[in-house]
Amino acid sequence: MIQEELKNRNLPKLLQMNDGTLCNTATLWEKRRAEILDLFSREVYGYMPTPPTDTTYHIISTYDDAVAGFAIYYRIRITFSTPKGPFSFDVEFYTPKTVIHVPLLLHLQFNDSPLHRVYPVEDIIKNGFATMLVRYCDIMPDKNDFSQGLAGMYLKGNQRESPTEWGAIGCWAFAASRIMDVIETMDFIDSKRVAIIGHSRLGKTAMWCAANDKRFALAVINASGNTGASLSRGNEGETIEDITKMFPHWFCENYYKYANHESEAPFDQHEIVAAIAPRGVYICSGDSDMWAGPKSEFLCALAASPVYEMLGLKGLVTPDAFPLSETCMGDGLLAYSVHSGGHYIGRFEWENIMKLMKNRYIN
Ligand code: GCU
Repeated sequence: MIQEELKNRNLPKLLQMNDGTLCNTATLWEKRRAEILDLFSREVYGYMPTPPTDTTYHIISTYDDAVAGFAIYYRIRITFSTPKGPFSFDVEFYTPKTVIHVPLLLHLQFNDSPLHRVYPVEDIIKNGFATMLVRYCDIMPDKNDFSQGLAGMYLKGNQRESPTEWGAIGCWAFAASRIMDVIETMDFIDSKRVAIIGHSRLGKTAMWCAANDKRFALAVINASGNTGASLSRGNEGETIEDITKMFPHWFCENYYKYANHESEAPFDQHEIVAAIAPRGVYICSGDSDMWAGPKSEFLCALAASPVYEMLGLKGLVTPDAFPLSETCMGDGLLAYSVHSGGHYIGRFEWENIMKLMKNRYIN
């Protein structure tokens, strides 16, 4: 039944190389993944600049009795070179006092948004994880103004000059990779066990970041909706026209031409989710979050799964039916869950994230 629904979406073929041949080995998958990343860079999110080689950090403040005495808190400032000089932004983090070489949950945060109703730092620490949080507007303001923030540091003239120049999602994702640059230098954190977590526009960001940056072990893509982990073809909620009208600055200008032309796009979102394989993905929906399109998020997970199977791994393990609310399908490397409720990341998702991390990387 679900495969039938998926067929009706008429998606572009994930495992077909640009030259039409079948992608059926791990070596070919590396090539196919590069093709997908190039396609989405050119047509959707814009190309990211070459990563800097000089990312550093310094501690701004620290408190060694945080979270009821279980954790050390740090505020750090990350700095790297750009064409217009050094760029810096702050990250906060909590690390358990008693765990060394600790796995980490990197949380892309809204500023003071009620969207993040739950961020269970105490549970995270008690379960043996460190957690970092970065406020996305500290990197780049969420406006159609490329002269500011990180985008401003790379802008040549007064505005974007090419239709493939990056948008804000690219900037936020690029900065998350700079956080990974410094994580790799911190010996008390295990950089091989880092999950990147984002909700909504930051779910789109976590997905784009992890697709590009193989250093992230798991991407948690919560309620990411259109141009996140939700299929554009047949989406029951937001359309490409809606999103490019309201948030043109999230994408490169090439993307605008797909408004009302979803079925002609040479891509759909399952391909960019698949570009994270063979690493872990966890896609989460809310059953009444119609704007994000929970059904299209589930079908997107289902459509991305064949890459794992082709690689001899378990992808999405699901019965042949749409999942009931409050279900988490977490047996494979591509997990999916749906909560009963709307547009938020809640305790259910955080508990699933910790379970997935523990099952895969701790036990
Ligand atoms: C809007 C937008 C969505 C986005 C959401 C959010 O609703 O249309 O695409 O995911 O904002 O970031 O909260």
